Amino acid sequence: METSIDKLWDEKFSREEYFYGFEPNVFIASHTYLLKPQGKLLCLGEGEGRNAVHLALEGYSVTALDASAVGMTKALARAKEKGVHITPLLLDLEQWEPQEKYDGVLSSYLHLEEPLRTEVFQKALNALNPGGYFIGEFFSTNQMPRSSGGPKKLSLLYTVESLTEIFAIAGCEIVLLEECEVYLDEGKGHQGDALVVRVIVKKY
Ligand SMILES: C[S@@+](CC[C@H](N)C(=O)[O-])C[C@H]1O[C@@H](n2cnc3c(N)ncnc32)[C@H](O)[C@@H]1O
Repeated sequence: METSIDKLWDEKFSREEYFYGFEPNVFIASHTYLLKPQGKLLCLGEGEGRNAVHLALEGYSVTALDASAVGMTKALARAKEKGVHITPLLLDLEQWEPQEKYDGVLSSYLHLEEPLRTEVFQKALNALNPGGYFIGEFFSTNQMPRSSGGPKKLSLLYTVESLTEIFAIAGCEIVLLEECEVYLDEGKGHQGDALVVRVIVKKY
């Protein structure tokens, strides 16, 4: 029997250290200038909260969604330590029906299989206010042979073509969608040269 997603990530996060470190993902952190100042943001598949805490420190109102209770507990502990508030949303994306609108949806390394992937990313676009952005970084299918991070299952990895199909929807503009090689220094979880797909989508 396959381990459920929450148990799998609970186990991974059940160590004192933060598996992907404390620093936010560089791509997300370097594009916050696009976001409405002090706007409402949703971090999808946020794990132990490194992006959420960073964004809260920048003055945004942040909700962090993840299936892992251990991850969310660590995210809240880190937010408390840094003196900021984040709102946790503990649920499996299989059950996600957005109840609010956001000025930005941010996601790093949320790897979902189809059809959940398309459903979740299109729901994320629908949950954006006009002028809002979806910003994400994910491992490419070409990352498979590398040991710098990411799932070792092709159906969980992304291509520019597959994400173009998902994000090219009415009312949205793909501002950036590219595969590139980056050097990752994100805790124990992501270390070394990696092939990622980066995406920025604007909602009109
Ligand atoms: C590789 S980790 C990345 C965590 C965080 N975004 C970061 O970059 O530090 C993937 C995260 O996605 C979450 N996740 C995966 N599938 C999920 C699902 N179906 N529902 C909710 N969260 C999910 C996991 O619990 C985990 O925290």
